[in-house]
Amino acid sequence: MEHKLVIRILGIESSCDDTGAAVVSSQKKILSNIVISQNQEHEPFKGVVPEIAARSHMQHLEKAINSALEASNMQLSECDAIAATSGPGLIGGVIVGSMFGRALASVLKKPFIAINHLEGHALTARLTNSISYPYLLLLVSGGHCQFVAVLSLGKYRILGQTLDDSVGEAFDKVAKMLDLGFPGGPEIEKKAKFGDKYKYNLPKPIINQDNCHMSFSGLKTAVRLLIAGLHDAKNSIGDEEINDVSASFQYSIGEVLSNKMEKAIKLYQKLANNPIFVISGGVASNQYLRKILSDKAESLGYEFIAPPINLCTDNAAMIAYAGIERLAAGFTNELNFCPRARWSLEEL
Ligand code: KG4
Ligand code: ZN
Repeated sequence: MEHKLVIRILGIESSCDDTGAAVVSSQKKILSNIVISQNQEHEPFKGVVPEIAARSHMQHLEKAINSALEASNMQLSECDAIAATSGPGLIGGVIVGSMFGRALASVLKKPFIAINHLEGHALTARLTNSISYPYLLLLVSGGHCQFVAVLSLGKYRILGQTLDDSVGEAFDKVAKMLDLGFPGGPEIEKKAKFGDKYKYNLPKPIINQDNCHMSFSGLKTAVRLLIAGLHDAKNSIGDEEINDVSASFQYSIGEVLSNKMEKAIKLYQKLANNPIFVISGGVASNQYLRKILSDKAESLGYEFIAPPINLCTDNAAMIAYAGIERLAAGFTNELNFCPRARWSLEEL
């Protein structure tokens, strides 16, 4: 490839329910970042319906890409490479975005980079805060919940993870039980602001185990039983109770995450000694959890970094940026790269 001063990469994201296209430069400038949300399409089901998501990506991706190029004031031919999420995620949508990216790269005769969606989340803080490797990451999204030692590009060690539900999933399911909107995380956060977090004593599963694995399905079941009990007493559940359940649930999550963070730091310190703690993924946009975790990080002598909210939730800027790092390191992919529904960071 010819050597240019500034490289610009088109990123494509379609692994869940956000259709994203973005252009990011090697100077870490986000030239555009378009997200077309499918929330309204999934709202009636209070969860993401994979078939609906895949069809919606098909319908909206071209528009997202055109908007991203227009906002960057660029022609498609001016992109130096195409980076597309190629897993893990809902496979229908992943195939749509990855194939679209491959087709563009093929026509343009430009490199194609198959991005692991989790790597996109993992590297976001390097785009927004220019931190250097290594660092400790808590990735909390709808599909994942894990503490990861980010050692260098493509070199990740999972120190601990959820044994069942992800935090985002727990937020979404509890929101559904409370008949709140979708996605559930932001709805619970809003209600929790007005609630008493000490009102209901909810479990903090496996908090006392000396590792940084987590479990949230028992907490979810406890909330289900609590809500059923509240319904029994009055046959309906009032606003105050919704607020208190939300606050108590969010409190339990915060306690588990901050306790496990301390254990993750102990494991991380065996591998690296750069005291930086990064949080990323959709749940990382929760202000309450950010505060709990940033206080904890500070008390342990760690710098706490949380990317801006629009870069914590799914977006294509993080995919384009991962492409920037991969291209610079000479990691590109063949056009026959096969999208993967499951794809651990440790397999990179
Ligand atoms: O990273 P993301 O956008 O998509 C995945 O890769 O999964 O994360 C989506 C998840 C959803 O479960 C959503 O409810 C949760 O992130 N989420 C939140 C908040 N905003 C989004 N959870 C708690 N509080 C929030 N403010
Ligand atoms: Zn994500």
